[in-house]
Amino acid sequence: MKQTTPPKTYRVKSFGCQMNVYDGERMGEMLAEKGMSPAPEGEDADLVVLNTCHIREKAAEKVYSDIGRLTKGKTQKVAPMIAVAGCVAQAEGEEIMTRSPAVSMVVGPQAYHRLPGMIDKAAKGIRSTDTDMPADAKFAALPQRRKSAPSAFLTIQEGCDKFCTYCVVPYTRGAEISRPYSALVDEAKRLTEAGAKEITLLGQNVSAWTGEDDKGRALGMAGLIREIAKNPDLKRIRYTTSHPADMDDELINTHGEVEKLMPYLHLPVQSGNDRILKAMNRSHTAESYLKLLERFRTARPDLALSGDFIVGFPGETEAEFEDTLKIVDAVGYAQAYSFKYSPRPGTPAATMDDQVAPEMMDERLQRLQASIRRDQQAFNDASIGKTCEVLVERKGKMDGQWLGKSPWLQSVHFTGDAAIGDIVTAELIQAGQNSLGAVLREPINT
Ligand code: SAH
Ligand code: SF4
Ligand code: F3S
Repeated sequence: MKQTTPPKTYRVKSFGCQMNVYDGERMGEMLAEKGMSPAPEGEDADLVVLNTCHIREKAAEKVYSDIGRLTKGKTQKVAPMIAVAGCVAQAEGEEIMTRSPAVSMVVGPQAYHRLPGMIDKAAKGIRSTDTDMPADAKFAALPQRRKSAPSAFLTIQEGCDKFCTYCVVPYTRGAEISRPYSALVDEAKRLTEAGAKEITLLGQNVSAWTGEDDKGRALGMAGLIREIAKNPDLKRIRYTTSHPADMDDELINTHGEVEKLMPYLHLPVQSGNDRILKAMNRSHTAESYLKLLERFRTARPDLALSGDFIVGFPGETEAEFEDTLKIVDAVGYAQAYSFKYSPRPGTPAATMDDQVAPEMMDERLQRLQASIRRDQQAFNDASIGKTCEVLVERKGKMDGQWLGKSPWLQSVHFTGDAAIGDIVTAELIQAGQNSLGAVLREPINT
């Protein structure tokens, strides 16, 4: 590596889950604190941070094509200094340096607070890798939040101890840790001071969060939600992602009692078949999952449900896959994510017998997605005629058009007098599969 001038501008590209989006924002804030500025849209950046995802093979391989495009002048006129961050950085570490000589830094998701020092080294021609864990040190070392959108992310919990047999997250993010209560209340306050109306609490196992309040009393996630809800500038709270094993009565009741907690729950089930669930090391059955949802729906009858599914887990038969279709029919999801199983290095499922043929996975995914689409449309159709609050997040493509979110996390578009960050009252009048049309109703601003 040759010596270069220290970078003045940066661009952070985040892939994967919302936690990576959050990390990308924090990296940007840190680089700004270092005196760098974000590269304007369409212009070259001196430093590009690829904040990567390792969850499926396609996502993980993307980093190498992105590096190739950056160095060959396809993405920028001049090749930038390149940092690889995120879960591929954690999983592959030094290997990335060997495979891609153009990369100056490799930094894991729990070590990116040391990025500024690594950039200084890189400018002197020294390449470095930092994949230290755990996450506590990172949060303590990061600068305070300074920017915010109407809807902001707040990571409250890191890592995962569940070890589902297909999943890389326990290896890339490390063991579960909960951020301290006071740091979270403080960060939520900074976000609302900077304009956030909605905060989504994040964690790979967000409902496993535990902590203590100012008086030393033990709190779970329900307690944290109740405390954060006391912030008068905060209007909406969401959280993601939960594991069915960590949902307790207190959290279920919170859905019925805390008005600011939005009527939406993302609760992945992965499969509708008990043998597959066991092989996945999920600790629930199809029946226990459905019973849990019933308890949530009793507490909050208008709850919109979302989930994740994997098709083609090793050994999955046609009949076992059909159980997944059955659970979709039984739940009636407002939306859901579905994926073809992807064998991940180092996970137990990758070496299991009876890997399912790719064509079979394609066919199953198509059938599953058809069911999900049908339910999503039905959920949106059933919303027509409802008058609800919409949080305005950005301008639409058409003149005077605005885009925002309903309480049920549906994308809503309308035209009229509004501004980003407003919470308006709107009647939903038209339903597509992915968005709804609305008209403003009195009182427009609540
Ligand atoms: N912590 C969350 C999300 C984990 S990653 C949870 O437990 O639900 C998001 C989703 O990616 C998972 O829910 C799962 O559906 C999917 N996924 C994880 N590993 C996968 C793999 N090896 N192949 C295909 N999909 C996978
Ligand atoms: Fe992965 Fe399972 Fe942990 Fe979710 S709970 S992050 S799917 S190991
Ligand atoms: Fe991907 Fe890491 Fe998130 S593997 S899904 S970016 S935790």
